[in-house]
Amino acid sequence: PTANIAVVGLAVMGSNLARNLASREGNTVAVYNRTTAKTDALLEAHPEAGFVKAATMQELADSLQTPRTAIVMVKAGRPTDAVIDELVSVFEPGDIIVDGGNALFTDTIRREQAVRETGIHFVGCGISGGEEGALNGPSLMPGGTPESYETLGPILRGIAAIAEGEPCVTHIGTDGAGHFVKMIHNGIEYADMQLIAEAYDLIRHATGKSPAEIADIFTEWNAGELESYLIEITAEVLRQVDATTGEPLVDVILDAAGAKGTGAWTVQTALDLGVPVSGIAEAVFARSLSSKPQQRAAGAALPGPSTPWSVQDPDAFVEDVRLALYASKVIAYSQGFDAIVQGAIDHDWQIDKGEVARIWRGGCIIRARFLNRITEAYAADQGLVALVTAPFFSDVMATAQDSWRRIVAGAAQSGIPVPAFASSLAYYDGLRAPRLPASLIQGQRDFFGAHTYRRIDAEGTFHTLWSGDRSEIAAEDTH
Ligand code: 6PG
Repeated sequence: PTANIAVVGLAVMGSNLARNLASREGNTVAVYNRTTAKTDALLEAHPEAGFVKAATMQELADSLQTPRTAIVMVKAGRPTDAVIDELVSVFEPGDIIVDGGNALFTDTIRREQAVRETGIHFVGCGISGGEEGALNGPSLMPGGTPESYETLGPILRGIAAIAEGEPCVTHIGTDGAGHFVKMIHNGIEYADMQLIAEAYDLIRHATGKSPAEIADIFTEWNAGELESYLIEITAEVLRQVDATTGEPLVDVILDAAGAKGTGAWTVQTALDLGVPVSGIAEAVFARSLSSKPQQRAAGAALPGPSTPWSVQDPDAFVEDVRLALYASKVIAYSQGFDAIVQGAIDHDWQIDKGEVARIWRGGCIIRARFLNRITEAYAADQGLVALVTAPFFSDVMATAQDSWRRIVAGAAQSGIPVPAFASSLAYYDGLRAPRLPASLIQGQRDFFGAHTYRRIDAEGTFHTLWSGDRSEIAAEDTH
């Protein structure tokens, strides 16, 4: 056997990851694809990679040194299960199967359990950075056993993106922890993209600036505290001119956003965990709304405000939008990390939040300058219960909140939809509020369903005899 690592599934992500692996000192990469023509095409296009071709799964197993390690890069869902079954039939105890797809973490937990019974290790590994990242350095989020990471870790460190001298990979936790964290990454990605889109939309409507002018604003923002990959590519997209019409490309792209489902998973999971990820949820829903042409056509006739936004000082307005974006972004990341904290508790994972922020500084889609601050916040306080309350972030809120409120209020008055800006602000104010009207909700629940309530001044559970003399009794907390 000559290869130390295999890639199974040679679509774009798989091919690029295989090429990345092959380009690193010490690796010999075996490659397998169900349709052999794809394998041949890859070998022909990249002779420099020195790939070892496997025409069958048995050949793949035979070409690998032990413990055998194979990274599976096929479609999430059934195709993944099929490939895992085949690999299990040719691998031996101690070997390692890595799923590098965007698998749902509960599938990963299930697969890990099943594969573990054969003595083979199963590692669900989140990979972020798209095609370019796979080729030149992604951010990697492996789960699975610590033992499997002893073999896998050095290989992954060799291909990961480097941020400030450190490879963007860490062992996230056991079984599905890696895919869980990747899912949250994608949830934050959805929120971040939606917030940036809202910022663009606000500036365009309220100042009348062109996409190219707004591109310059984003480029400028990217030189400051908002510096991030998504801001950078936003400028590029806004600057692009359509060859056919000569119009800005953004004006000829149909305004219906697609989604492969990972954002929705984040929200579904957060609902189960009881963690408010409202910014992420609004981002998912905003994509759904955009993709409902019939409803939008019907809605176009609905009454709106009579006066458009008349901005007196465009520069001051743009700065307000920047700060509103920054504050909302902090909330999105904060909610995402809060979901990681709760997920780790529920699934018994030891996740180092600071490490997660660290490996997101390079390679991944949400890479951003201020992730350093998240690492610092958790380094200072591992038990942080809400990321936004860390000193650095509460200072950001102090600086940004007036702008944020002006923007959300102005948008509401002039009828510009800013669901993610607005819900992030509502979350922030909810978090701050010394008293919430939840007391009234408890009263209502007790009224119609005898669901009981607790008091601020006494231990125990209580119920008011609403349909009797309305006196209060001590109650068993059975509801
Ligand atoms: C990444 C991305 C990637 C994701 C796509 C598509 O980290 O590289 O998150 O994994 O699948 O961006 O996502 P949607 O089609 O759901 O927008």
